[in-house]
Amino acid sequence: MQQRKPDYPISPFFYERWSPRSFASSEIEKEVLLSLLEAARWAPSSMNEQPWYYLIGLGKDKELFLDCLVPENQLWAKKAPCLILLLYRPYFSKSQKENPTALFDCGLSAMSLMLEAHLRGLITHPMAGFHHEKTLQSLRIPKEYKPICFFAVGYQADRELLPPHLQEREFPKGRLNLDEICRFGPFEV
Ligand SMILES: Cc1cc2nc3c(=O)[nH]c(=O)nc-3n(C[C@H](O)[C@H](O)[C@H](O)COP(=O)(O)O)c2cc1C
Repeated sequence: MQQRKPDYPISPFFYERWSPRSFASSEIEKEVLLSLLEAARWAPSSMNEQPWYYLIGLGKDKELFLDCLVPENQLWAKKAPCLILLLYRPYFSKSQKENPTALFDCGLSAMSLMLEAHLRGLITHPMAGFHHEKTLQSLRIPKEYKPICFFAVGYQADRELLPPHLQEREFPKGRLNLDEICRFGPFEV
């Protein structure tokens, strides 16, 4: 497996987390799942609005969630014991004004969930590949919420258990260089 190597020292969990597709059939204990959601809960958000909502597809509910995914995601996500849909509220609850950082806030919350999962030996895989209308209808999403993405959550299995074309993609991806994602001071004129 390709090793990720940071250019500057950081805590290993940042680069050791990745998004595998090979899930074991092992169930997740509800208490463990609640700890992941608890981590998501403590994320910061603009005005402490907490515009996130997590819908959990576990046990008999899982099929309903799986059906919302595009076929290419269903192919591997069907093995995951839990599918989660992250929703957001685009408007502030008090003023009803648009919340310009709602999606950003949800990203912070989702990353907390994924890192907590990683630290507990679970794997997570976010998926934007889903059928929007079907999701709204099948999961009976209330009007004030919009879907962002699904997550497959569970325990990792061997890469060899995936179909061949997915085995080729089953490795931790690299990243852009630091000088491609930041600079000190303003952009040049
Ligand atoms: C919002 C979001 C949507 C994604 N959607 C999909 C998806 O539909 N299918 C998929 O296989 N991977 C999906 N991914 C996984 C990314 O391809 C993956 O995170 C990226 O390649 C970086 O790899 P890493 O998570 O292993 O570090 C998604 C990731 C994010 C953050």
